[in-house]
Amino acid sequence: MPRKIVIDTDPGIDDAMAIFYALRSPELEVLGLTTVYGNAHTETCTINALRLLEIAGRPDIPVAEGAHRPLVSRFHGPADFVHGKDGQGDTFLPPAAAKPVGVHAAQFLIDAVMSDPGNVTIVALGPLTNVAMALLLRPDLPAYTREIVLMGGNAYVPGNASPAAEANIFNDPAAADIVFGAACPVTMAGLDVTSRIRMTADDLDRFATFPNAESQHMARLLPCYRSFYYGQLGVHEILVHDSTTISWLLHPELFTVEARPVRVETEGISRGKTWPANKSSRPDSDWEGRPAVNILVAANGPEAVRVELEAFAR
Ligand code: RIB
Ligand code: CA
Repeated sequence: MPRKIVIDTDPGIDDAMAIFYALRSPELEVLGLTTVYGNAHTETCTINALRLLEIAGRPDIPVAEGAHRPLVSRFHGPADFVHGKDGQGDTFLPPAAAKPVGVHAAQFLIDAVMSDPGNVTIVALGPLTNVAMALLLRPDLPAYTREIVLMGGNAYVPGNASPAAEANIFNDPAAADIVFGAACPVTMAGLDVTSRIRMTADDLDRFATFPNAESQHMARLLPCYRSFYYGQLGVHEILVHDSTTISWLLHPELFTVEARPVRVETEGISRGKTWPANKSSRPDSDWEGRPAVNILVAANGPEAVRVELEAFAR
């Protein structure tokens, strides 16, 4: 039986890669995509989610549009300098024929989990606003959720949106603090691992050689992403952010996990910083009583890249 997942996403070049990776993995069944602002405005992310499903030949999978801004603060604006003005590497594809369903993403997430209580995993690839809204609307939702696995945060490494914070958490720290407090298994695939899982120029060149529509689309998107990372790293490599959630679901043996409660700084210059508890915390600290989060702290990067490319190649 494939594992049921629903993907909350802000597509986004690396979101596209993660969505295709999931769709091309028979071990997973994608129940739907829910959209959020982040790499682009929410309307654009919804159009992209529909496009990606059409490219993958899965227009039957529903898309539900979600939040247009964080819970309690303003949206700082799209990451078009990374993902292009259209969120898809400035490829400006025509819109898909399908339309989003008329249900808010938060309600869609609730309905997806409750359609098979205990067996549905939420995979979150963008700011956590929709997931937090679902938890606020249904405080008992964690009791029925198999796992929440999210790309976001930085436990022991610097941020990428600021020295303190990773972009998804920076975009809605209040929502992230709610999600890290959920009483179900929560797995944080943050920069501790995603900044160390890298596709090389040779890896990236392979997408164009795979004869399927998803890989061909990635080959069109990747030059934009690659040029951003060349500016950052000075080498033709990319960091594999969002796909790491899927690698965790398929190959948990590739990761080292540390189980600790996580709190999020919601204000000030460290806004969006994810703080794991440490052993010397006072008993009455702000971490007290919070559930342990599975923080991915190390990974077998070359193997994670190999298994992902294998999914695109088949
Ligand atoms: O920090 C990386 C994350 O920010 C990824 O999810 C990327 O798609 C952007 O949303
Ligand atoms: Ca993303």
